[in-house]
Amino acid sequence: MSRLKIIMGTTRPTRAADRVAPWVASVADAHGGFDVEVLDLRDWPLPFFSEHFGTIGDMNDPSYSEPLVKAWNSKIKDADAYLVVTGEYNHSIPGALKNAIDSVWASNAFRNKPVAVVGYSAGVGGGIRAIEHLAQIVVETEAVPLRNTVVIPFVNDAFDDAGQPVSPMANAALEVVLDDLAWWSTALEYARAAGELVPGRARLRDAMLKAEAAKVPAA
Ligand SMILES: Cc1cc2nc3c(=O)[nH]c(=O)nc-3n(C[C@H](O)[C@H](O)[C@H](O)COP(=O)(O)O)c2cc1C
Repeated sequence: MSRLKIIMGTTRPTRAADRVAPWVASVADAHGGFDVEVLDLRDWPLPFFSEHFGTIGDMNDPSYSEPLVKAWNSKIKDADAYLVVTGEYNHSIPGALKNAIDSVWASNAFRNKPVAVVGYSAGVGGGIRAIEHLAQIVVETEAVPLRNTVVIPFVNDAFDDAGQPVSPMANAALEVVLDDLAWWSTALEYARAAGELVPGRARLRDAMLKAEAAKVPAA
Protein backbone atom coordinates (compact mmCIF):
# COMPACT_ATOMS: atom_id res chain seq x y z
CA MET A 1 0.00 0.00 0.00
CA SER A 2 1.21 3.52 -0.79
CA ARG A 3 2.77 5.27 2.15
CA LEU A 4 1.14 8.71 2.29
CA LYS A 5 2.63 11.45 4.45
CA ILE A 6 0.28 14.30 5.31
CA ILE A 7 2.50 17.29 6.11
CA MET A 8 1.01 20.04 8.27
CA GLY A 9 2.61 23.26 7.07
CA THR A 10 1.83 25.66 9.92
CA THR A 11 2.93 25.55 13.54
CA ARG A 12 1.61 28.63 15.37
CA PRO A 13 -0.70 28.40 18.41
CA THR A 14 -4.39 28.70 17.43
CA ARG A 15 -3.62 27.52 13.88
CA ALA A 16 -6.52 26.65 11.62
CA ALA A 17 -4.51 23.60 10.56
CA ASP A 18 -5.95 21.85 13.60
CA ARG A 19 -9.38 22.01 12.01
CA VAL A 20 -8.28 21.07 8.51
CA ALA A 21 -5.69 18.33 9.04
CA PRO A 22 -7.79 15.94 11.19
CA TRP A 23 -10.52 15.96 8.53
CA VAL A 24 -7.95 15.38 5.76
CA ALA A 25 -6.35 12.51 7.69
CA SER A 26 -9.67 10.81 8.42
CA VAL A 27 -10.79 10.98 4.77
CA ALA A 28 -7.36 9.72 3.63
CA ASP A 29 -7.57 6.82 6.09
CA ALA A 30 -11.07 5.93 4.88
CA HIS A 31 -9.96 6.10 1.22
CA GLY A 32 -8.33 2.70 1.57
CA GLY A 33 -5.46 3.35 -0.83
CA PHE A 34 -2.91 4.53 1.70
CA ASP A 35 -0.97 3.81 4.79
CA VAL A 36 -1.37 7.31 6.28
CA GLU A 37 0.99 9.17 8.60
CA VAL A 38 0.57 12.80 9.68
CA LEU A 39 3.80 14.78 9.94
CA ASP A 40 3.15 17.81 12.12
CA LEU A 41 6.00 20.30 11.79
CA ARG A 42 5.47 21.16 15.46
CA ASP A 43 6.88 17.69 16.18
CA TRP A 44 9.81 18.41 13.89
CA PRO A 45 11.49 21.58 15.24
CA LEU A 46 14.07 21.67 12.48
CA PRO A 47 16.86 24.25 12.68
CA PHE A 48 16.93 27.01 10.07
CA PHE A 49 18.48 25.32 7.08
CA SER A 50 22.25 25.37 7.50
CA GLU A 51 23.55 22.35 5.64
CA HIS A 52 26.65 22.42 3.47
CA PHE A 53 28.96 19.80 2.09
CA GLY A 54 30.86 19.76 5.39
CA THR A 55 27.74 18.67 7.31
CA ILE A 56 26.72 16.09 4.73
CA GLY A 57 29.77 13.83 4.99
CA ASP A 58 29.09 10.71 2.94
CA MET A 59 26.74 11.71 0.10
CA ASN A 60 25.34 8.16 0.09
CA ASP A 61 24.47 8.37 3.80
CA PRO A 62 24.44 12.07 4.76
CA SER A 63 25.01 12.92 8.41
CA TYR A 64 23.63 16.53 8.40
CA SER A 65 24.18 19.21 11.04
CA GLU A 66 21.79 17.62 13.54
CA PRO A 67 20.27 14.15 14.03
CA LEU A 68 16.79 15.68 13.62
CA VAL A 69 17.62 16.79 10.08
CA LYS A 70 18.82 13.29 9.24
CA ALA A 71 15.66 11.82 10.80
CA TRP A 72 13.50 14.24 8.78
CA ASN A 73 15.22 13.24 5.54
CA SER A 74 14.68 9.56 6.42
CA LYS A 75 11.02 10.19 7.27
CA ILE A 76 10.39 11.95 3.95
CA LYS A 77 12.26 9.24 2.06
CA ASP A 78 10.08 6.59 3.74
CA ALA A 79 7.05 7.64 1.64
CA ASP A 80 5.46 7.16 -1.75
CA ALA A 81 3.23 10.25 -1.80
CA TYR A 82 2.68 13.53 0.04
CA LEU A 83 -0.34 15.64 0.83
CA VAL A 84 0.59 19.06 2.17
CA VAL A 85 -2.00 20.89 4.29
CA THR A 86 -1.10 24.54 4.43
CA GLY A 87 -2.38 28.04 5.06
CA GLU A 88 -1.21 31.00 2.99
CA TYR A 89 1.31 33.39 4.49
CA ASN A 90 2.10 36.57 2.53
CA HIS A 91 1.02 35.03 -0.77
CA SER A 92 3.25 32.02 -0.26
CA ILE A 93 3.78 29.01 1.97
CA PRO A 94 4.71 29.45 5.65
CA GLY A 95 8.44 29.80 6.37
CA ALA A 96 8.39 26.66 8.56
CA LEU A 97 7.15 24.62 5.62
CA LYS A 98 9.72 26.08 3.21
CA ASN A 99 12.43 25.34 5.75
CA ALA A 100 11.22 21.75 6.10
CA ILE A 101 11.32 21.31 2.32
CA ASP A 102 14.76 22.93 2.04
CA SER A 103 15.98 20.62 4.82
CA VAL A 104 15.35 17.66 2.54
CA TRP A 105 18.72 18.09 0.92
CA ALA A 106 21.16 15.65 -0.66
CA SER A 107 18.84 12.70 0.03
CA ASN A 108 16.62 13.06 -3.07
CA ALA A 109 13.80 11.96 -0.75
CA PHE A 110 10.98 13.68 -2.66
CA ARG A 111 12.30 12.61 -6.05
CA ASN A 112 9.81 11.01 -8.48
CA LYS A 113 6.93 11.01 -5.96
CA PRO A 114 3.63 12.89 -6.21
CA VAL A 115 2.78 15.94 -4.09
CA ALA A 116 -0.74 17.34 -3.71
CA VAL A 117 -1.95 20.27 -1.62
CA VAL A 118 -4.88 21.18 0.58
CA GLY A 119 -4.80 24.96 0.89
CA TYR A 120 -6.81 27.24 3.11
CA SER A 121 -6.91 30.83 4.25
CA ALA A 122 -8.96 33.19 6.35
CA GLY A 123 -10.15 35.08 3.27
CA VAL A 124 -11.66 34.43 -0.12
CA GLY A 125 -8.42 33.18 -1.71
CA GLY A 126 -8.45 29.82 0.08
CA GLY A 127 -4.66 29.55 -0.10
CA ILE A 128 -4.46 29.43 -3.89
CA ARG A 129 -1.27 31.50 -4.03
CA ALA A 130 0.40 29.20 -1.51
CA ILE A 131 -0.77 26.19 -3.52
CA GLU A 132 0.62 27.57 -6.78
CA HIS A 133 3.87 28.59 -5.12
CA LEU A 134 4.30 25.16 -3.55
CA ALA A 135 4.02 23.52 -6.97
CA GLN A 136 6.88 25.72 -8.19
CA ILE A 137 8.95 24.86 -5.14
CA VAL A 138 8.55 21.09 -5.20
CA VAL A 139 9.47 20.87 -8.87
CA GLU A 140 13.01 21.69 -7.81
CA THR A 141 12.99 18.65 -5.47
CA GLU A 142 12.08 16.57 -8.55
CA ALA A 143 8.76 15.66 -6.93
CA VAL A 144 5.71 15.56 -9.18
CA PRO A 145 3.18 18.29 -8.27
CA LEU A 146 -0.41 17.35 -9.09
CA ARG A 147 -2.93 19.56 -10.84
CA ASN A 148 -5.96 18.97 -8.63
CA THR A 149 -6.18 20.63 -5.23
CA VAL A 150 -8.48 21.30 -2.31
CA VAL A 151 -9.12 25.02 -1.75
CA ILE A 152 -10.77 26.10 1.51
CA PRO A 153 -11.69 29.80 1.70
CA PHE A 154 -12.90 31.45 4.92
CA VAL A 155 -11.35 28.61 6.91
CA ASN A 156 -12.55 29.92 10.25
CA ASP A 157 -16.16 29.21 9.22
CA ALA A 158 -15.47 26.23 6.96
CA PHE A 159 -15.98 23.41 9.50
CA ASP A 160 -18.94 22.49 11.69
CA ASP A 161 -18.78 21.46 15.35
CA ALA A 162 -18.26 17.83 14.32
CA GLY A 163 -15.14 18.82 12.36
CA GLN A 164 -16.78 18.27 8.97
CA PRO A 165 -16.54 20.83 6.15
CA VAL A 166 -19.72 22.81 5.62
CA SER A 167 -19.19 22.94 1.85
CA PRO A 168 -19.80 19.63 0.00
CA MET A 169 -17.16 20.79 -2.48
CA ALA A 170 -14.45 20.17 0.11
CA ASN A 171 -15.13 16.44 0.48
CA ALA A 172 -15.60 16.01 -3.26
CA ALA A 173 -12.34 17.81 -4.03
CA LEU A 174 -10.44 15.82 -1.42
CA GLU A 175 -11.64 12.52 -2.90
CA VAL A 176 -10.45 13.66 -6.35
CA VAL A 177 -7.05 14.57 -4.92
CA LEU A 178 -6.72 11.27 -3.05
CA ASP A 179 -7.65 9.28 -6.16
CA ASP A 180 -5.03 11.24 -8.13
CA LEU A 181 -2.43 10.66 -5.44
CA ALA A 182 -3.17 6.92 -5.39
CA TRP A 183 -2.86 6.68 -9.18
CA TRP A 184 0.34 8.68 -9.40
CA SER A 185 1.81 6.97 -6.39
CA THR A 186 1.33 3.52 -7.96
CA ALA A 187 2.52 4.67 -11.38
CA LEU A 188 5.66 6.25 -9.95
CA GLU A 189 6.37 3.27 -7.67
CA TYR A 190 6.49 1.10 -10.82
CA ALA A 191 8.61 3.66 -12.60
CA ARG A 192 11.09 3.96 -9.73
CA ALA A 193 11.32 0.16 -9.45
CA ALA A 194 12.09 -0.05 -13.18
CA GLY A 195 15.10 2.23 -12.65
CA GLU A 196 15.65 5.91 -12.03
CA LEU A 197 17.78 8.30 -14.01
CA VAL A 198 20.73 9.91 -12.30
CA PRO A 199 19.54 13.43 -11.33
CA GLY A 200 19.78 15.83 -14.26
CA ARG A 201 22.18 18.24 -12.55
CA ALA A 202 24.71 15.39 -12.11
CA ARG A 203 24.27 14.28 -15.73
CA LEU A 204 24.73 17.86 -16.88
CA ARG A 205 27.89 18.27 -14.80
CA ASP A 206 29.32 15.00 -16.19
CA ALA A 207 28.50 16.08 -19.75
CA MET A 208 30.25 19.41 -19.22
CA LEU A 209 33.31 17.69 -17.71
CA LYS A 210 33.46 15.39 -20.74
CA ALA A 211 33.11 18.35 -23.09
CA GLU A 212 35.90 20.14 -21.24
CA ALA A 213 38.15 17.05 -21.37
CA ALA A 214 37.50 16.67 -25.11
CA LYS A 215 38.66 20.19 -25.90
CA VAL A 216 41.72 20.18 -28.14
CA PRO A 217 44.47 22.11 -26.37
CA ALA A 218 45.38 25.29 -28.23
CA ALA A 219 48.62 24.91 -30.18
C1 LIG B 1 1.91 35.76 8.66
C2 LIG B 1 0.56 35.59 7.99
C3 LIG B 1 0.42 35.95 6.67
C4 LIG B 1 -0.80 35.75 6.03
N1 LIG B 1 -0.91 36.07 4.71
C5 LIG B 1 -2.05 35.75 4.05
C6 LIG B 1 -2.12 35.96 2.65
O1 LIG B 1 -1.19 36.39 2.00
N2 LIG B 1 -3.27 35.61 2.01
C7 LIG B 1 -4.35 35.10 2.69
O2 LIG B 1 -5.37 34.81 2.06
N3 LIG B 1 -4.29 34.91 4.02
C8 LIG B 1 -3.18 35.23 4.71
N4 LIG B 1 -3.10 35.01 6.05
C9 LIG B 1 -4.26 34.42 6.72
C10 LIG B 1 -4.04 32.93 6.84
O3 LIG B 1 -4.23 32.27 5.61
C11 LIG B 1 -4.96 32.32 7.89
O4 LIG B 1 -4.70 32.99 9.11
C12 LIG B 1 -4.72 30.85 8.08
O5 LIG B 1 -5.57 30.40 9.11
C13 LIG B 1 -3.26 30.54 8.42
O6 LIG B 1 -3.06 29.19 8.71
P1 LIG B 1 -2.83 28.71 10.22
O7 LIG B 1 -4.00 29.25 11.03
O8 LIG B 1 -2.85 27.21 10.16
O9 LIG B 1 -1.54 29.28 10.70
C14 LIG B 1 -1.91 35.23 6.73
C15 LIG B 1 -1.73 34.86 8.07
C16 LIG B 1 -0.52 35.04 8.70
C17 LIG B 1 -0.35 34.62 10.13
